[in-house]
Amino acid sequence: MKKKIAVLPGDGVGKEVIAEAIKVLNTIASLYDHSFVYDYGLIGAAAMDETGDPFPKETENLCRKSHAVLFGAIGDPKYDRDLSAKVRPEQGLLRMRASLGLYANMRPIKSYEPIYDNSPLKNDRVKGVDFVVFRELTSGIYFGKPRGRAEDGSEAYDTCIYTREEILRVSEMAFQAAQKRKGKITVVDKANIMATSRLWREVVKELNKEYADVKVEFMFVDNAAMNIITNPSQFDVILTENLFGDILTDEASVIAGSLGLLPSASFGEESKLFEPIHGAYPQMAGKNRANPIAAILSAALMLEHALNAPMEADLIREAVLASMEKGIVTEDINPKKNSSTREVGDFVSEYLTSRYIDDPNPMTII
Ligand code: IPM
Ligand code: MG
Repeated sequence: MKKKIAVLPGDGVGKEVIAEAIKVLNTIASLYDHSFVYDYGLIGAAAMDETGDPFPKETENLCRKSHAVLFGAIGDPKYDRDLSAKVRPEQGLLRMRASLGLYANMRPIKSYEPIYDNSPLKNDRVKGVDFVVFRELTSGIYFGKPRGRAEDGSEAYDTCIYTREEILRVSEMAFQAAQKRKGKITVVDKANIMATSRLWREVVKELNKEYADVKVEFMFVDNAAMNIITNPSQFDVILTENLFGDILTDEASVIAGSLGLLPSASFGEESKLFEPIHGAYPQMAGKNRANPIAAILSAALMLEHALNAPMEADLIREAVLASMEKGIVTEDINPKKNSSTREVGDFVSEYLTSRYIDDPNPMTII
């Protein structure tokens, strides 16, 4: 197969972790006879430095004409000093989500047996954690209007708005995902307080009639925050609005033991975007020390969800598990004995090659 991939490494460690994901994709391409054509684009501070715009039109066009977008990270401390600055790198991210219509953000949360001890939670709680969060990404309080500041500066306000349609389209994806998984959705909201949450409940309950094989439960967000720590293995699919999803996915990301392990996917009408959950981590940039696994697993999600290559994706996941079993990990996983960013990428690529010669069908699906 021949596919066009837009690559937006962005800022900080984005560049080096995306380089490892591309290394792994190239290995897959040569093993399975695929042809991936990469077109690089600017975003974030890197784009501001060159064009003054954190999401230039050229980058937007590039994303639109590609089958998938692989994105690194955004943010540079040099733009953080002035909080009142009109243009900030993060705006590039929000504008990209809005203009590409990426309304559903999927963040899988999984624990890995070889590194259970890395989790701040006790082993028996970490064991078997495997859930996925569907976060609505282009509405809610992030985008609602009016927003701003009273003229005399004495008040500020944000608005949380959801339409039925906005709730419906992300919920449909969550239901379809639940059908392929364990068939359970936990809707996280604040329906005891918020009108938008009550609309979410209404829409999800109606939709549940079309997906009668899926069991839906509702949980208030404060209680969900607690349950993610006390009993994370109860969850299969979490479905929630933009701000709650933002907060809960950072919380859930600690279960596995490092933010450097978590990939994500964002889906819209036309575009599909894949990115590690971690940020630009500027202090670590250019040192060949950042964990490339989140970016490599994002490439696996891309193969599965945008490029119709689920078997290749499973093989990458198997290689990632093998890297942990063999202790070929970066310093966030093992501060005492570790490998560099490039060494982890090399291990995954070499494993894929040797495993392919062995047997092209992955055995372990993780
Ligand atoms: C995320 C990030 C972004 C968000 C920031 C960088 C704007 O935290 O992708 O979760 O809040 O959505
Ligand atoms: Mg966040």
